[in-house]
Amino acid sequence: MTTFHELFGHAPTGEWAAPGRVNLIGEHTDYNLGFVLPIALPQTVRARARRRDDGRLRLYSAQGDGRVAELAVADLAPGTVAGWAGYPAAVVWALRQAGHPVGGADLLLDSDVPTGAGLSSSAALECAVASAYNDLYGLGLAAQDLAVVAQQAENRFVGVPCGVMDQMASMCGRAGTALHLDARDLSIRHVPFDLASAGLRLLVIDTRTRHDLADGAYAALRAGCERAAALLDLPALRDVPPSGLDPALGRLPAELRPLVRHVVTENERVRRAVALLDAGDPAGLGPVLTAGHASLRDDYRVSCPETDLAVEAALSAGALGARMTGGGFGGSAIALVAVGAADETAAAVAAAFRRAGYPEPGLVHAIASAGARRVS
Ligand code: GLA
Repeated sequence: MTTFHELFGHAPTGEWAAPGRVNLIGEHTDYNLGFVLPIALPQTVRARARRRDDGRLRLYSAQGDGRVAELAVADLAPGTVAGWAGYPAAVVWALRQAGHPVGGADLLLDSDVPTGAGLSSSAALECAVASAYNDLYGLGLAAQDLAVVAQQAENRFVGVPCGVMDQMASMCGRAGTALHLDARDLSIRHVPFDLASAGLRLLVIDTRTRHDLADGAYAALRAGCERAAALLDLPALRDVPPSGLDPALGRLPAELRPLVRHVVTENERVRRAVALLDAGDPAGLGPVLTAGHASLRDDYRVSCPETDLAVEAALSAGALGARMTGGGFGGSAIALVAVGAADETAAAVAAAFRRAGYPEPGLVHAIASAGARRVS
């Protein structure tokens, strides 16, 4: 592999890592200022980095086309940088927009977070760069602040109107725990998530499907939720209590009702999931996950035949619960399985995919791991 020294002619100052994530429950609730419960994965984006004082941002990705992208920090503007290099450039731009007078850097990026699998490889990339810059420029920003900068980078520079969950999971995840995040005030609590001692595993099924128009569809859903909140005269759908759901639905046009029903019931599922984990009953999560899938499939309508099949096949093979994870329109599903049934469940999902003529799914076990950190 090409070394930092070969690429840039000097040694890096250090190396930073930031993980991808899977979300256990709480989907499409973050931009409604509700609750989510993701875990950080062992797979990370790593950034070896050195500060430059000439205003140049030089970027190389081990997964890229073998070329160094070179940009002038002062000229960065939304819409000017295409492809993967847009994410690191976006973070540098967003830091400057937030009033941090950062300059250039040399960055060598390497990743084992699968891209396009719904595991937040882009948030991991943003958070690795944000963490490196935080140290290289002595910004002293807290993990939550860096997550918000990364989200701003994606919203305003890359142009994807995502919520804050993926960046918060990548920045703030902790080994052996799930991250209970309140997306309104960004308060977090690390909830015990020790599957091994409960004899359980979390299987991640990458369906290898990516649907076109996903970005437009995501933005449309978000706009629908914001319209519903405005019609209800509320700051966000988070402010509809479960007991207020039926009256709220009665005040909305038919097309917005399923969106609101999903968000309100999904926030309740997060509450229930956290209570189960706090009570030391991770197996109890199973039905909560499966109910979450039904809501995403039938109300929010972000599932697709491949994720539905992954969920059905896992459940028929004895999984305690299963659901699509992440924004949807393809990507990955998760299944909660007993350790002894994990291989059988994976084989059953792969066989169902073969029978349906779908591509071979990716199958890995998710272990709740540490968030962004300096590694050297
Ligand atoms: C994507 C977004 C997140 C979140 C999920 C849906 O992953 O980046 O902010 O909205 O979709 O829960």
